[in-house]
Amino acid sequence: MSLATELNETVNIQTGEQNSSYPVVTGTYNEKGITIDKLRDTTGYVTLDVGFKNTGSTESTITFIDGEAGILEHSGYRIEELASKSSFEEVMWLLLHGELPSEAELAGFSKQLKAHRALPVGVKGILDALPDQTHPMGMLAVVLNSLSGFYPAYDDSWKSEEVKWNTIYTLLANMPGITAYIYRRSQKLPYIDADPSLGYVENFLHMMFGKVDERVVEALDRLLILHADHEQNCSASTVRFVGSSRVNLFAAVAAGSNALWGPLHGGANQAVLEMLEAIQLDGGNVDKYIAKAKDKADPFRLMGFGHRVYKNFDPRAAVIKKYVDQVLDTLEKEDPVVDIAKGLEREALKDEYFSSRKLFPNVDFYSGIIYRALGIPVSLFTVMFALGRMPGWIAQWKEMRQNGEPIGRPRQIYTGAATRAYVPMSER
Ligand code: SDX
Repeated sequence: MSLATELNETVNIQTGEQNSSYPVVTGTYNEKGITIDKLRDTTGYVTLDVGFKNTGSTESTITFIDGEAGILEHSGYRIEELASKSSFEEVMWLLLHGELPSEAELAGFSKQLKAHRALPVGVKGILDALPDQTHPMGMLAVVLNSLSGFYPAYDDSWKSEEVKWNTIYTLLANMPGITAYIYRRSQKLPYIDADPSLGYVENFLHMMFGKVDERVVEALDRLLILHADHEQNCSASTVRFVGSSRVNLFAAVAAGSNALWGPLHGGANQAVLEMLEAIQLDGGNVDKYIAKAKDKADPFRLMGFGHRVYKNFDPRAAVIKKYVDQVLDTLEKEDPVVDIAKGLEREALKDEYFSSRKLFPNVDFYSGIIYRALGIPVSLFTVMFALGRMPGWIAQWKEMRQNGEPIGRPRQIYTGAATRAYVPMSER
């Protein structure tokens, strides 16, 4: 049964001599979805949509994106407003509850996050046991999966309201410490334990660097807001899909973190900086790399450009771009790759190859420049993305379980060999 307003609209599909009609779901902003859950039973046909470019996987109330207009909203609140007026803890609440919290609700939530902040002691031993060259995202997936062992009471994360919320608080509260421990491990630095007196971002900076630079707190809080959720992206869909098997939440977000690791997804923020540094090393010739990005024979892609949904600017990139100069000025830092990034954007936006394919800077194009200015190494950029996205993954998982969605199990079109007899080795 549709969760959105159903206007009794239907779509007819003709298969051979048969004509069958299917209900249409209409979303808040009049997006239309053809409900085909009876298609195969009725017609014997399935749909085929590799990469799900035209396929809705669910109805959701968490996040809305208008890719053509460059709009991103969480429960109706525009990302630009949230980034400038809200806080990451408040946006976490919004994603989980669909409403902005009252002062008392926010205070209670902050208290819960502090109460669940301490990491299991064994996490250090797990990180120390991993090879030095392990990518920080590999470390993250290992630690996230290990949490079901450290918190066995939360193995059935949907068992009760109390278990569900304790699991959610634990994951949100542990994430800054896990990120900081991964940073310290990857840099071979001693671990710094949580300080229960500090706020969410302050404690993260304390565990990362052993100090809190107030100028960095606001910048980081805004960056985390900008990464908090993005509807049915690759990693969020992975969390929902893996979670649909009713595995614990820790395993579901571990799967999501592996999806985010990919260079076409969250791994792009690391790939952008590596690309900018390579261009800088190669003399900073922007035109050469624009040409490489356009050359089909050249595997080079302009990392941080393009998006499956945004066919106009990514509103998050617009906010982050404005913020780059402000953060560098505040921290009295310069970064030579900023001019290279701005040059690439300037040249690409006036080039028909990019404009005709509606390729604009996405959230990853400028974010790494700010992370680096905050003292965060490139190898940790995607873990920072995961730190921001954790509340979104959890909100998506919670909605999928709340809706009682069935286990995900797509169909296929088989195009392999037809039935044939086994051939003994002597006859092959
Ligand atoms: C994120 O889904 C989300 O919401 C993700 C995310 C989130 O918040 O969760 O927004 C975060 O993952 C942002 C995207 C980060 N990835 C990158 O920056 C990697 C570089 N971008 C691309 O690889 C690509 O644009 C994708 C993966 C983002 C989108 O790929 P699509 O939608 O599958 O598009 P495509 O690969 O089919 O490309 C369409 C055309 C192709 O050319 P033609 O075959 O039509 O001639 O555009 C070209 C592509 O070659 N193209 C690029 C390009 N991106 C697409 N050409 C050069 N440089 C690029 N970056």
